Amino acid sequence: MRHTEVLPSARRLIGSLRDIGYDLPVAIADLVDNSIAAGATVLRLDTCFEGSDSWIRLSDNGSGMTEGELMEALRFGSRRYYGSSDLGKFGLGLKVASLSQCRRLTVASRSTLRGRTRLGQWDLDHIESTDRWEVVRPRGRDCILATLPLRGTTGTVVLWEKLDRIVRFKAQAGRRALTEFGRLENELEQHLAMVFHRFLAREASRRRPLTIVINDRRVQPWDPFARHETDTQALGEQRLALNDDSSTPRVSVRPYVLPSEAQFSTPTAHRIAAGPRLWNRQQGFYFYRNDRLIQAGGWNRLRTSDEHTKLARISIDFSASADDFFELNVSKTQVRVPHGLRAELATISSAVARVAQDSYRGSSNGSQGVDLAAARIQAIREIVGIVIADVQALVSDELGPDSAVGSKLARQIAGLERKLVKDVISATQSQSSANGATGVGHKG
Ligand SMILES: Nc1ncnc2c1ncn2[C@@H]1O[C@H](COP(=O)(O)OP(=O)(O)OP(=O)(O)O)[C@@H](O)[C@H]1O
Ligand SMILES: [Mg+2]
Repeated sequence: MRHTEVLPSARRLIGSLRDIGYDLPVAIADLVDNSIAAGATVLRLDTCFEGSDSWIRLSDNGSGMTEGELMEALRFGSRRYYGSSDLGKFGLGLKVASLSQCRRLTVASRSTLRGRTRLGQWDLDHIESTDRWEVVRPRGRDCILATLPLRGTTGTVVLWEKLDRIVRFKAQAGRRALTEFGRLENELEQHLAMVFHRFLAREASRRRPLTIVINDRRVQPWDPFARHETDTQALGEQRLALNDDSSTPRVSVRPYVLPSEAQFSTPTAHRIAAGPRLWNRQQGFYFYRNDRLIQAGGWNRLRTSDEHTKLARISIDFSASADDFFELNVSKTQVRVPHGLRAELATISSAVARVAQDSYRGSSNGSQGVDLAAARIQAIREIVGIVIADVQALVSDELGPDSAVGSKLARQIAGLERKLVKDVISATQSQSSANGATGVGHKG
């Protein structure tokens, strides 16, 4: 068989990849992932907004890269092995996140204190004119902005210039542009405080501390579950199986119900706990992949967001080895709820939503816990009811509403329904008591 290699057009492909769904905070978070993966403990994000000379720079003190590693890092689709606790997955983030925001990405890196700083650059104007997958190799002294932070340290610097997607205003140094940059910086700080809160608060399984500084301001972690509030209800952890295979890692689910406005310690604490997208849109699931927050709120079509359930937030933890089940997207902002988890998560959410409604009305006594077995039984009743109604409608359609055979069948089906519900309920109850877990109980 003959084969012909057909290479993509660099100009067209890179141009298209710019629009796969990044915004500034999401793009920076992708760079932060890389720095954390490289063992960095201090990340500095500096921004300079000066019209068309504006730039954004992220410097870390991680392990840095050798010449070979740097070239691989700059390849679209870097080749490397990923462990189950890795934050990376696609081999794209550095390039695609960066070029979604700027036209020139420079990476400078240094892996030993004695070694030289290596540089490589993707410049869209160069790609535009050559249509080749060609990395520019600037000299260190021509790129002081990128090399300066590496004086006396190992690490990596990612510099964005020609910020065409960020500096869009005609008067790029005007007052409107400045206000917009201030807003962007705030948004960025909030996003990083949320996505990396476990790392910033030293709660991640990696032991090292992490400090992120944006223009000399240190980012403080934002805890979506307001665990420092005395009236926050931490409901018990559940460990759910993704399928019948016992070697597949389990998923840990921890529901919380936050206090109502009146129960919060201070109005400021209540306002901060609302989160970047505010109470209604921050309710729901918080998916963490290896301690890094992927999705912050939303019910993934298992429920609808409702004012009365806005105090319900549920953390769901999975590791990279469960990636295939969660279908993580490239910009790491979305997952799909795996099929094998949908029923169980729906049950847990409705149980937690009920506690959240009580908290919203200020009637929670904080000691009842959630009867998960009862919620499960209710869910079973509802599902069986829907299936039976469908079957009865089918029989009636086929045989006509007045058919004697049809009436007999309908009675038999109703009997089946009662038996089915009874059997499933007793199986659920015996399973619950065998597990010793009859409810989503309060912790502590
Ligand atoms: N700050 C950094 N320090 C050290 N190495 C880095 C740094 N940033 C990137 N790299 C290297 O470059 C590679 C490519 O990074 P990139 O973000 O493009 O892909 P990835 O992290 O492997 O996967 P993903 O697309 O999921 O982010 C990384 O795997 C890592 O080896
Ligand atoms: Mg990455």
